[in-house]
Amino acid sequence: MNQLIIEGGRPLHGEVRISGAKNAALPILAATLLTDQPVVIQNVPHLQDITTTITLLSQMGSSVTMKESMGLEVVNNNIKSCFAPYDMVKTMRASILVLGPLLARYGQAEVSLPGGCAIGPRPVNLHLQGLKKMGADIQVENGYIRAHARKLNGAHLNLEMVTVSGTENLMLAAVLARGTSVIENAAREPEVEDLGRCLIRMGARIDGLGTARLEIAGVDELLGTEHHILPDRIEAGTYLVAAMMTGGEIKVRDIQPGLLDAVLERLREAGAIIDCSENLIHLRMEGRRPLAVDIRTAPYPGFPTDMQAQLTAMNCVAIGSAAITEDVFVHRFMHVQELRRMGAELRMDGSTVISNGVPQLTGAPVMATDLRASACLVLAGLVASGTTVVDRVYHIDRGYETIEEKFTRLGARIRRVSASEEYTPVATD
Ligand code: EPU
Repeated sequence: MNQLIIEGGRPLHGEVRISGAKNAALPILAATLLTDQPVVIQNVPHLQDITTTITLLSQMGSSVTMKESMGLEVVNNNIKSCFAPYDMVKTMRASILVLGPLLARYGQAEVSLPGGCAIGPRPVNLHLQGLKKMGADIQVENGYIRAHARKLNGAHLNLEMVTVSGTENLMLAAVLARGTSVIENAAREPEVEDLGRCLIRMGARIDGLGTARLEIAGVDELLGTEHHILPDRIEAGTYLVAAMMTGGEIKVRDIQPGLLDAVLERLREAGAIIDCSENLIHLRMEGRRPLAVDIRTAPYPGFPTDMQAQLTAMNCVAIGSAAITEDVFVHRFMHVQELRRMGAELRMDGSTVISNGVPQLTGAPVMATDLRASACLVLAGLVASGTTVVDRVYHIDRGYETIEEKFTRLGARIRRVSASEEYTPVATD
């Protein structure tokens, strides 16, 4: 297993380019199942979750090729199986996104039911309820969702709570259903909108993108297209927070600053000087420590749960106390225990973490438990004194492209070691 070894305490300075958004690329890869024509996707990030999705599609019969100019071409004119096995789904829950398109185009799907997850229970009941309302016959047996539908029908779907992948799965089904579907209380995340834009390019008829009410008129067939994935707002936010924590200065390029409004507002409150232009965010701390900020996570346009762990890490070294409340995944606090091992003063109260900032964290061996928790441990390591060893780096490779290279270019001392060369501290006794 790989580890990241970080020698902390160096302010970050420089520029970083942001990759395409993982959480937009995943549903868009699933959307390719809706047509037998080629779909070319540009700005696909090089991440483990993308590799897993390509493997899953290939097992079903997709032909996936990397084109010049970094486009990924997916052709689904020879799908042989509508099956997503447990082995795939257990490594990546987003595999559930093939359910809607398989059912809409092939009338059947067998997808392993995702299990528990390090960030808490993540049921898919709303995906299944919505598909049933569209006329699908769905049984959950032996750990699998077995779904059939001769033809899906448009339906009025009022989602009990805002769900990103639930909205996406239902959109992916509704675009080929007979008649019109309305999705109320739909997720408004920019990645959902990006999926919608790609579907519209493929010939889908969707009104209300970016709002909580989507109206989708089903069409008989969808066509091939070319789509450029939007930038990853969470990757961008993670680098901004790293620069803040180390008192540095950073230019984040290839980003749409508007995607991060809720995050930038909090970073300004924490003392950052931030200037934005079309594709750039410039953040300066001028050697100052951040001020602690209160946060409550919420669906977009609220503060994203995927930035909660990073802001918790920032509050650990900020001036003052603050409370961060997690309202999307109320158990998403596995990182708290690890941050405490680095000297953080954190106290849990239900789904709120209360921090009392300390001037200095100390490096320690720590364990990554999920993607954003591991990112927050890297951030803590970058500001801590001494050496931090982050274990189980595969979590971070699911969502951050070449993270150690990007941080190295910003002046960090960070390196990856493989299992055979694992870091062992020198014994001093
Ligand atoms: N929920 C239900 N029933 C459902 C679906 C969701 O109760 O059928 C609940 C969940 O338990 C949770 C809330 O609704 O409390 C929101 O979950 P959502 O369905 O929106 O999450 P998701 O679609 O599984 C996506 C991202 C996550 C991100 C969340 C919230 C992808 C592939 N994943 O997950 O990203 O945290 O939305 O924004 O898009 C990450 O990138 O690190 C990550 C975990």
